[in-house]
Amino acid sequence: MSYDTLLVETRGRVGVITLNRPQALNALNSVLMRELDVALKAFDADGNVGAIVITGSEKAFAAGADIKEMQALDFTGSYLGDFLGGWEHVAGARKPMIAAVSGFALGGGCELAMMCDFIIASETAKFGQPEITLGVIPGMGGSQRLARAVGKAKAMDLILTGRMMDAAEAERAGLVARVVAPDKLMHEAFGAAEKIASFSLPAVMMAKEAVNRSLEVTLAEGLRFERRLFQSLFATDDQKEGMAAFVAKRKAEFKHR
Ligand code: HXC
Repeated sequence: MSYDTLLVETRGRVGVITLNRPQALNALNSVLMRELDVALKAFDADGNVGAIVITGSEKAFAAGADIKEMQALDFTGSYLGDFLGGWEHVAGARKPMIAAVSGFALGGGCELAMMCDFIIASETAKFGQPEITLGVIPGMGGSQRLARAVGKAKAMDLILTGRMMDAAEAERAGLVARVVAPDKLMHEAFGAAEKIASFSLPAVMMAKEAVNRSLEVTLAEGLRFERRLFQSLFATDDQKEGMAAFVAKRKAEFKHR
């Protein structure tokens, strides 16, 4: 499969997707959304891929949804075409996704980073939801995921004023898991992805499911869900291998990885 807006490769057990519309600071148009969905589905289906990194360029992870494409939309077309609805498929990828963010992650760019399971940022990263400056509001999950990630106060501040926050503030606020020097970004993100991909894939995927479930249900339901997943992992070869390896003081060789 060849892509117009992405560079897609596998490095070992890690799938790497680089957003590639440099002329528009990786603005997210409908072609890019469709291609990202295809690339993620292919990685989800590929037994040799254990984790995914999504990144952009040094200047921009992505500067938002493509304003030039959106400009002429009207309500009826937007509603009937379910404009932006396809992003739910992107967010629904089952394998772990790390966003490696350098430069601007604005609007849809910040929202795409938040669709990933965690964000590793370069010190140069800038996050924001500037939709208000265009006369609209976030439409790819910004008002929901940002509020869950950083709390109401800062989400309101960013969404209502449209201001950007730098990587240090984003890390303090809990949006970002790690901040690294610009030249270390891909090394750090790839290293984290490689580590994840070395573990038992069913365990990794269930861990992702369990954490995501915590954002949707009550504590009691979440605890029950977690416990069932935990119990079910005792039906896997990898649980036997992981625990036997610990006891024998050797490295685990997971079968499903
Ligand atoms: C389309 C974009 C774009 C975007 C940048 N470009 N962002 N094109 N959609 N979101 C284009 C510019 O038009 C320009 O093309 C080229 O990329 C380089 O951008 P510059 O503005 O010249 O670069 P710079 O001066 O460095 O400024 C960088 C920037 C600025 C601060 C990131 O580009 C900017 O403010 N972009 C828009 C950010 C934004 O509002 N994002 C939210 C979008 S709405 P030309 O051809 O002129 O060289 C959104 C909604 C989500 O995401 C879903 C709900 C609707």
